[in-house]
Amino acid sequence: MIAKKEWIEQASAIRPYAYVPYSHFPVGACLIAKSGEIYTGVNIENASYGLTNCAERTAIFKAVSEGATEFVHLVIAGDTEEPIAPCGACRQVMAEFCSPDMPVTLVNKEHKIRETTVGALLPYAFSKKEL
Ligand code: THU
Repeated sequence: MIAKKEWIEQASAIRPYAYVPYSHFPVGACLIAKSGEIYTGVNIENASYGLTNCAERTAIFKAVSEGATEFVHLVIAGDTEEPIAPCGACRQVMAEFCSPDMPVTLVNKEHKIRETTVGALLPYAFSKKEL
């Protein structure tokens, strides 16, 4: 599924809420649940840098904490030259809650997009099947 324009706009529009006093690098995410409900998220940094929570993890954790566990699409938007590349930790969290074929839309500052999937972002992922 190609991302709806509205989801891309929401991921970009939420970025002013990013708490980024250290990196000054706001990122926004828009996660669409199977129910149609939309969960947005921004990155939230901390003076203890390693505690930073990325935008896409914020969106996923918001959704899960409100009872949504099935998702159909994720959009991530950054102020980047090329469509943003999610970090490894976020790829692992996506793999926990989203199927490998779920579409992920990566967006840059000019709304240039790259369509990919959870499985393409993290092939051969460690998962609950291993436990
Ligand atoms: N960041 C995200 O929120 N999502 C990404 O996909 C990449 C990186 C954040 C983490 C940190 O607050 C800032 O961007 C710089 O690394």
